[in-house]
Amino acid sequence: MAEISHGFAAALSSLKGGDFLSSSDLTSKQSVALLELANQLKKGPERIDLGNRVLGLIFTKASTRTRVSFQVAMARLGGQTIDLNPKVSQLGRGEPLEDTARVLSRFCDALAIRTYKHSELESYAKWSSIPVINALTDLEHPCQALADFLTIKEAFGSLQGQTLAFVGDGNNVAHSLMICGALLGVNVRIGTPKGFEPLSAIVAKSRDLALAGAKIELTNDPFEAVCDANAVYTDVWASMGQEQEQSLRKDAFKSFCLDKKLLSVASPEAIVLHCLPAHRGEEISEEVLESKSSRIFDQSENRLHVQQALLAALLGGL
Ligand code: CP
Ligand code: NVA
Repeated sequence: MAEISHGFAAALSSLKGGDFLSSSDLTSKQSVALLELANQLKKGPERIDLGNRVLGLIFTKASTRTRVSFQVAMARLGGQTIDLNPKVSQLGRGEPLEDTARVLSRFCDALAIRTYKHSELESYAKWSSIPVINALTDLEHPCQALADFLTIKEAFGSLQGQTLAFVGDGNNVAHSLMICGALLGVNVRIGTPKGFEPLSAIVAKSRDLALAGAKIELTNDPFEAVCDANAVYTDVWASMGQEQEQSLRKDAFKSFCLDKKLLSVASPEAIVLHCLPAHRGEEISEEVLESKSSRIFDQSENRLHVQQALLAALLGGL
């Protein structure tokens, strides 16, 4: 690798062999270095060769972006993925996680896991001898957050001192944005209806990690959250596993739709983000999703670039 990995070599090589379960598994330096490497991989013809290494994908929830971006990332890096969907493995017939993790560690070089309980992901990490990557749990979505901050960096050139407003549910996506934002020196404002705030332990952790005075703020007023923000982000009101709460949530969240009126109080240059999939007319209006301010599809593409950087670092391909 060229300059980037020289400048950030120590931070990137310190990730080799580790897990990525939470945004807080990275230091500020490691987060910055991964974004720099992702940016370089996006721009240039840099070649990293992972020498046919294999990433196992264990997804117990649906996925388009995360699954495909991991598959393409490994292909681009000269590696491969294996689909270990529990429906087609012995996991689905009750083989213990402890056994599965130890066996897969003998075949694969890393595992990317999407599941409900974060504690299940932690158990995989405990029983595996290879890197385990969080491809989304009910608690966090750390790969998504890296792509989101790469998108904000592309729009404004720098991250420190920018303000990101997230409106909607204080969910997995909000949690990782708070932690990762704190590490990168971004002010993060979370606007949720009462009763849907992010977990207080994550708020406390983010505030502890906040770099250079970055503020982590909560409000129950969507307009207060978005006021003068540089980036405005939303996500579905009912996450995977909460489908039965859909109609109750529609009611509770109705004043949190990211529409033209709400966006009008943001900075005039503000960009709009959404991790997708989106429910048009619920958490975001069609008009805002398709507007010039929207960077939503760049954000989606950036999943590929940051995951290439992450895999290269965790698998020691630099
Ligand atoms: N944003 C995201 O994680 O999308 P998928 O559920 O399609 O992977
Ligand atoms: N919060 C959403 C994100 C989907 C990418 C969910 O967990 O379903």
